Amino acid sequence: DAVDQQAEFDALVAAEGRIEPRDWMPDAYRATLVRQIAQHAHSEIIGMQPEANWITRAPSLRRKAILLAKVQDEAGHGLYLYGAAETLGVNRDDLLDKLHAGRQRYSSIFNYPTLTWADVGAIGWLVDGAAITNQVPLCRCSYGPYARAMVRVCKEESFHQRQGYELLLALSRGTEAQHAMAQDAVDRWWWPSLMMFGPPDDESAHSAQSMAWRIKRHSNDELRQRFVDICVPQAESLGLTLPDPDIAWNEERGCYDFGPIDWSEFQRVLRGDGPCNEQRLEQRRAAHENGAWVREAAAAYAAKHSGAGTT
Ligand code: 3HC
Repeated sequence: DAVDQQAEFDALVAAEGRIEPRDWMPDAYRATLVRQIAQHAHSEIIGMQPEANWITRAPSLRRKAILLAKVQDEAGHGLYLYGAAETLGVNRDDLLDKLHAGRQRYSSIFNYPTLTWADVGAIGWLVDGAAITNQVPLCRCSYGPYARAMVRVCKEESFHQRQGYELLLALSRGTEAQHAMAQDAVDRWWWPSLMMFGPPDDESAHSAQSMAWRIKRHSNDELRQRFVDICVPQAESLGLTLPDPDIAWNEERGCYDFGPIDWSEFQRVLRGDGPCNEQRLEQRRAAHENGAWVREAAAAYAAKHSGAGTT
């Protein structure tokens, strides 16, 4: 009965077990996973736009090939995650309808413009770096399909982060103008990357419950701090500075102190008032409409060859 099912679920989660699609789970657990996995998948798909802006203008064939591979990976991550969401009984089309109607979120970070080629490096190094910091713990998430999707995604994210770092290093060691372009990109992407981890813990609506369910394994602030501690030495190796004069090693805490984040900017972006919110959704809706014929053709082909024959 329901009491036993809840007890069994709680025991499995507490024992670091995996909840699988056919297991009983609380409705709220299912709903939280649908919300987070859909948001994650939407982020991957929308996240293709900022970088795709530079595919036709990459400075060399090598850079173009790397960027193409990365953007294609993001599409694959999105499809992987929509697949994980569907194991919870939701329909991919409904999730996309909600995204297009502004009723489901995607990561705030993708509402910023990519103004120069150096932005491709800053996104790889900082945005994919933050994504790795956030996604590695998700490999230990209590929901099986999501945790397993993350293992594959994290392997590809490492390539994304390394190519971004290497791109910035080439610019930083290049001409003065190239160094300045890399520094300008880091200046613009640093603070929005810290906001990717979500609001401060004491303002996080979902953290306590998500951590009790072992969906979220570390708090927003913990992962944000871990990310800062990783980036400070990397910025030094890049010969670039992070746009925060308050960054300083704190021996007592064993990590870097850093300056206050402008949460009003974060809330503005979440409300839809970021630099590119409108443009990103318009482009997404247009891509969906322009792609309708492909979906219809695939469905017609499947019906024809499934032996069911077309009625
Ligand atoms: N962008 C947009 N919304 C955000 C956000 C962000 N960066 N951070 C938090 N929020 C929203 C939450 O969705 C929630 O709003 P809602 O109730 O309307 O959904 C509200 O702010 C409160 O935040 P919480 O901390 O309480 O929410 P969560 O517990 O969901 O934590 C999270 C937020 C840490 C982003 C968590 O959802 C998560 O870990 N998601 C999975 C990872 C993910 O989505 N990453 C996004 C980037 S993917 C990517 O970068 C692709 C890579 O290839 C570049």
